[in-house]
Amino acid sequence: MGFTLKPAVKENFINREDLLKEMVTTLTDESIDMGFALIGSRRVGKTSILLEVANRLKDNENIVVVYFSVWNLVESTLKEFSDQLIQTILTAFKNKLPTKYKIKGLLKDKIKEILREAGFSIKILDEIEIELSRKNKVLDANILLEKIFGLTEELSKEARVRTILILEEFPALVDVTNGKKLGEGVIRKIRTVNERLEHTILCVSGSIRKTMEMAVLSPSSAFYRQFIIKMIEPFDKTTTGELLVTNLRQKIEPQAVEVAHSLTSGIPFYLQLLGRQLQGVATEVIEPETVKAVFEDILEEEVTIIFEEEFYRLSDKERAALRVMVEYEVGKLNDISKNLGEGVNVVSKYLEYLITKGLIQKETRGIYQIADPVFEQWLKKRFR
Ligand SMILES: Nc1ncnc2c1ncn2[C@@H]1O[C@H](COP(=O)(O)OP(=O)(O)O)[C@@H](O)[C@H]1O
Ligand SMILES: [Mg+2]
Repeated sequence: MGFTLKPAVKENFINREDLLKEMVTTLTDESIDMGFALIGSRRVGKTSILLEVANRLKDNENIVVVYFSVWNLVESTLKEFSDQLIQTILTAFKNKLPTKYKIKGLLKDKIKEILREAGFSIKILDEIEIELSRKNKVLDANILLEKIFGLTEELSKEARVRTILILEEFPALVDVTNGKKLGEGVIRKIRTVNERLEHTILCVSGSIRKTMEMAVLSPSSAFYRQFIIKMIEPFDKTTTGELLVTNLRQKIEPQAVEVAHSLTSGIPFYLQLLGRQLQGVATEVIEPETVKAVFEDILEEEVTIIFEEEFYRLSDKERAALRVMVEYEVGKLNDISKNLGEGVNVVSKYLEYLITKGLIQKETRGIYQIADPVFEQWLKKRFR
């Protein structure tokens, strides 16, 4: 127990009990063949939820959970994606083998051998490997996807289990390259393959509202109505208090919880950062002023390291657009472009890029807003 900057599971996982119960119940119900799509901004707790669901399912003998995040790819090639996903699938199934085989850190070839010894037919795996080893040739994405999903299906059948296949940051698959970017075709292909799966339930997540919209939310998206959609929101004030009170060694005044909640907007990542720093303060009872001071430090230090990197990766124009949004407190396209001294058409293009990167959101009345309130505070400190 304690504050952590890694995904929170087990005793570190706070609240969201209703959602967890619903997910566990639904995913273990043989009569339901729908998975979940979690949508929520970065650092709000999607990975924690999915890993905690996996944790609660781990003793269920009828279930195998395969957890994979597209953001873990380094080169983002189809080859890397395929290799890593296959390794992850095989590793997940290793747990269904007799105990003597449950050795950690086995590589693919060894697991393959063990599966074969244990009587699993893994013809499909051999086929995938032939496909992957073709030299000097663009891989066939469609065949690969069919076969990789086919692999979980085959293994599930043989092990008599249902597989929960979690693909985090799912829309990022369109940026995976195979010569060129796979594009939206990959989402449609997975949708078609997924429809035929009987023993595999797909669950996905995405941080960027816009790309999730294109993949699962809007009526024209490939996965429209194929998932149970869950919007993941930051913590409410009570849960913020729960996180702090559970983990802090000191007492904390209710007013101080309020301040913590308003400064972090209840986003669990920032609460964890705050809690970790508060813990080091030499005081018996944490007061509102302490929280304010510690949060100021965090904006200067920890958060600066994270945001600076992100901010300077943007183009000059994107940075300028963000700057005027905070400097002049404007959100309307017209005002932003006036302050930038650039045409509306040009500026709306940069704003679109920023939306695609998840940094700003378009509100209904054509007003743009910075997505992460802590990022906004940080920008304000720089540009006001
Ligand atoms: N339910 C929770 N209880 C406690 N801490 C949480 C919870 N959910 C998220 N966090 C914390 O917030 C941070 C971001 O969580 P993460 O699950 O990685 O978010 P996301 O996947 O949405 O980016 C981590 O430091 C994690 O420990
Ligand atoms: Mg995550």
